[in-house]
Amino acid sequence: MKALVYHGPGKKAWEEVPDAAIQEPTDVVVRVDTTTICGTDLHILQGDVAAVTEGRILGHEAVGTVTEVGEAVTGFAAGDRVLVPAITKCGRCAYCQRGMPSHCQTVGGIGWIFGHLIDGTQAETVRVPYADTSLYTVPDGVTNEQAIFLADSLPTGYEVGVLAGQVRPGDTVAVVGAGAVGLSAILTTGLWGASKVIAIDTNKFRLEKALEFGATDVVEVGPATVAEVIALTDGLGVDVSIEAVGYPETLLTAASLVRPGGSIANIGVHGTPVELPMQDMWIQNVRLTMGLVDTVSIPTLLKMVASGRIPAEKMGTHSFTFGQMDEAYDVFKNAAANSALKVVITP
Ligand SMILES: NC(=O)c1ccc[n+]([C@@H]2O[C@H](COP(=O)([O-])OP(=O)(O)OC[C@H]3O[C@@H](n4cnc5c(N)ncnc54)[C@H](O)[C@@H]3O)[C@@H](O)[C@H]2O)c1
Ligand SMILES: [Zn+2]
Ligand SMILES: [Zn+2]
Repeated sequence: MKALVYHGPGKKAWEEVPDAAIQEPTDVVVRVDTTTICGTDLHILQGDVAAVTEGRILGHEAVGTVTEVGEAVTGFAAGDRVLVPAITKCGRCAYCQRGMPSHCQTVGGIGWIFGHLIDGTQAETVRVPYADTSLYTVPDGVTNEQAIFLADSLPTGYEVGVLAGQVRPGDTVAVVGAGAVGLSAILTTGLWGASKVIAIDTNKFRLEKALEFGATDVVEVGPATVAEVIALTDGLGVDVSIEAVGYPETLLTAASLVRPGGSIANIGVHGTPVELPMQDMWIQNVRLTMGLVDTVSIPTLLKMVASGRIPAEKMGTHSFTFGQMDEAYDVFKNAAANSALKVVITP
């Protein structure tokens, strides 16, 4: 089969590799019908994720069709249309039992294994460990082009942003960074009845998208960002401030937008230390949360997509075939210049 193979920082190739095959009785093999690229894949290609070694097939998001089933698998059969989420879970370890499969202990001690610790989904076929407890059947009313965004971006914005930040009816919410993840947070704040959702970004196209995704106000990053957001909340600051970029300055911005007693929900993946002004923050009674997505909200989100409450398909702005993988990466990497959000890649 063909797959996108990582060959060290800055190097990747769509090339011939052995077909994915069952290794454990709890595995299935899935033919990938739709995949996409995540910001994290770009981090890997920059050499930021040391655990990804040369020869690894990239990608941790897919919708596909089961082609082979291990002998212990009872919940799936060949021909089933399934969502392969970014997180794999055994269902039995201490963290899975706590509803926190992001830290599933079974494969390498972390739930994110595709395109990280084992071969990933930017391939014609992929081996899925612990299939019974990890895969989701895609309901008939949900298309592949919708389901693909439930593998990572949508659950991340919802779980690590909206749920961790404890958005409640009437709340004012700021979202710093309106990429796929920030927009997913914006899209799902509505489910909890936020009264005002303020999107903050450097990119005008993303801010236009934010309004389409349910933001009530947008602020283009500049010297007066914090003052503008505070003014939009009658001088109080927001109830929940969500960070969805992953830089020290954006976390500091998110922290300076929150009212006393509010929540700061950091979603961004950080590569460097962040110095927080604790001398100002301690007296504000604020909460700061952070973490890796669990993807446990997928069943809820699938229902919301099926019923039309979440227009997940709006995330996809560009489509490519497997043979155009390099082009897909180029467009995604230069998202601002290409007015791109997420790319949809199919055979
Ligand atoms: N915690 C998790 O489990 C998890 C899962 C997936 C992704 N992530 C992380 O979430 C973050 C967002 O992911 P994404 O896929 O949406 O990335 P993205 O690159 O598509 O979006 C980031 C957005 O931030 C904007 N931005 C850049 N600099 C800014 C600044 N100074 N101020 C305001 N906005 C700025 C960009 O214009 C862009 O719209 C990344 O750090 C990613 O690694 C975390
Ligand atoms: Zn991802
Ligand atoms: Zn587990």
